[in-house]
Amino acid sequence: MKRCKTCGPSLRNEDRISELPEALLLQILSLLPTKDVTATSVLSKRWKSLKKIVPNLEFIYNERNNLESESDLERFSNNVSRHLLSYQAPVLQSFHLNVSSYDEGLIDIGVLLGIAFGLHVRKLILEVYFDVDSFTFPRNLFNCGTLETLEFRAFILLDVPSQVCLKSLKTLHLHDVEYQDAKSVRNLLSGCVNLENLVVDRNGHDCVKTFTITVPSLKRLTILDDHYHSKYVINAPSLKYLKIQGASCFRSCLIENVSELVEANIEILYAIYENILESLTSVKRLSLSISPLEVTFPTGSIFYKLVYLELCACRADWWNLLTLMLDTSPNLEFLKLIGPCHKYIKPVPWGQWNQPKNVPECLLHHLEIFIWKDYEWQRENEKEVANYILRNASCLKKATFSKRGLNSKERLDMVEDLESVVKASSTCQLVFK
Ligand SMILES: *[C@@H]1O[C@H](CO)[C@@H](O)[C@H](O)[C@H]1NC(C)=O
Ligand SMILES: *[C@@H]1O[C@H](CO)[C@@H](O)[C@H](O)[C@H]1NC(C)=O
Ligand SMILES: *[C@@H]1O[C@H](CO)[C@@H](O)[C@H](O)[C@H]1NC(C)=O
Ligand SMILES: *[C@@H]1O[C@H](CO)[C@@H](O)[C@H](O)[C@H]1NC(C)=O
Repeated sequence: MKRCKTCGPSLRNEDRISELPEALLLQILSLLPTKDVTATSVLSKRWKSLKKIVPNLEFIYNERNNLESESDLERFSNNVSRHLLSYQAPVLQSFHLNVSSYDEGLIDIGVLLGIAFGLHVRKLILEVYFDVDSFTFPRNLFNCGTLETLEFRAFILLDVPSQVCLKSLKTLHLHDVEYQDAKSVRNLLSGCVNLENLVVDRNGHDCVKTFTITVPSLKRLTILDDHYHSKYVINAPSLKYLKIQGASCFRSCLIENVSELVEANIEILYAIYENILESLTSVKRLSLSISPLEVTFPTGSIFYKLVYLELCACRADWWNLLTLMLDTSPNLEFLKLIGPCHKYIKPVPWGQWNQPKNVPECLLHHLEIFIWKDYEWQRENEKEVANYILRNASCLKKATFSKRGLNSKERLDMVEDLESVVKASSTCQLVFK
């Protein structure tokens, strides 16, 4: 039989991988760093030609770890340009360039990017760590009709004196970027007319005082910020998802025109001086880790659509935020409290819990699931809150309490405590984890 003949004595020399269909080979190759792809190309002609159409190219040069010599950076740069110049697929799906070097004179990143843009690159991930000056992203590359994803990581300077045109751009990540000025931010964002997903991640290296995000097409926005003086202005009428996370104090955050917002996740350690909650009243799902002492609660605003609320039960006076949220969320079905995570414990005397004046609408008619992770069962205020919810939530189907690190006696006490509460819902199932 033919099959037997081919797998006879020459079995060891046979290149079985080369027999695989091209699409599969390309998929395998695109999972490898480009250096390894290049290495495979010495294996056969077939591999050599595949190298020229593999969809994702990734080039990493790290002088700091490897202590590679200077001339290696030049060779690396030549390798990258040679690879790009021999590229033959009609579009380059993804180009990832990661260069960490002491000597920026030996590589012209702008030229390499220019070649990649000439290949109609769809996704660019750029990381450049230079010692002295930051790498300034070439201005002319901000006018590109084919780029769909752009991720800047690490100390790249964006100097954008006039409006750009990135009309296919859907996703933009700005990690640790430096901005020439606040106008550069506005010019960049206003040219991304179809942008849907924006990540702004700042760690104190830039001097932009007010970061303005006005993007009509934006659907998802994530802000991660450890600045002490950050101010944000957000105007995003299509926004569906918002996440704001900051370890320090935001000076202010003005969020307007976000009536399409469905989900928000707000975690800010210290003060935030503005009325952040008022802008969030359209959400269905809300996760809050803020202290009621540090936000102004919107008077008269009602969270009509809110069905899912997650609240950090660890910030100063958190229970008063719970009361406010229960009072203003008439349709809440799901409530999750998350107990102390130690980074948030502040050495301030905490006040008393003021239980709601009237039993909130959501407890009477809607709340079905109640979860308390890391329930501090020995603390008076916490116990009162748990009892109050169990005694007043008429439609509750399931209440789950969990606490780590209890011995069996403590565990029994906690369970007995909670089981002895007379529940408003006779069908409520109590679960302990
Ligand atoms: C880029 O290189 C730096 C340092 O060489 C490394 O820390 C980082 O994880 C790399 N990034 C990616 C996405 O591989
Ligand atoms: C350049 O490519 C050659 C082979 O193509 C490889 O042996 C060499 O390590 C590469 N040099 C750098 C610095 O990437
Ligand atoms: C929200 O939209 C209104 C009307 O278009 C506009 O006047 C206002 O400046 C916008 N808010 C922000 C923060 O841009
Ligand atoms: C609601 O809970 C409070 C506190 O646990 C309790 O005093 C009150 O009787 C409860 N209301 C109803 C209607 O059971």
